[in-house]
Amino acid sequence: MTLLQAATAVRERAYAPYSRFKVGAALRSTSGAVHVGCNVENVAYPEGTCAEAGAIAAMIAAGDTGIAEILVIADSPEPVPPCGGCRQKIAEFAAQDVPVTLCTTDGKMKVTTVADLLPGVFTAAHMDRT
Ligand code: THU
Repeated sequence: MTLLQAATAVRERAYAPYSRFKVGAALRSTSGAVHVGCNVENVAYPEGTCAEAGAIAAMIAAGDTGIAEILVIADSPEPVPPCGGCRQKIAEFAAQDVPVTLCTTDGKMKVTTVADLLPGVFTAAHMDRT
């Protein structure tokens, strides 16, 4: 199954009664396994989680620790970009040159990279005072 197929399928299971904006994400880990996630909203709005966060949680729960590629899909007019928080979450587990594919349900697609999505990323090195 391709990342597009996996993200399209999991998007249908999104729980988005408040925004009515369903998002699916699929990533291939450095081990080769595919992990998926969808957004899960909550009546206490800030408690909702994004599709990318779900896919990353599934990856970690499965014992994988690196993202080789990731794809996000939504029914948006233009390819849906990850929110700022998700860019940082992706950067935690992905090299700067890892491709991030942004998709719409009607077939538009844009390929970018972790570096392009999050210039000036905060890393563990910024906490190193020695
Ligand atoms: N959302 C995602 O799941 N991923 C994104 O990349 C953009 C936004 C979700 C969060 C919320 O449930 C809904 O889309 C509207 O913001």
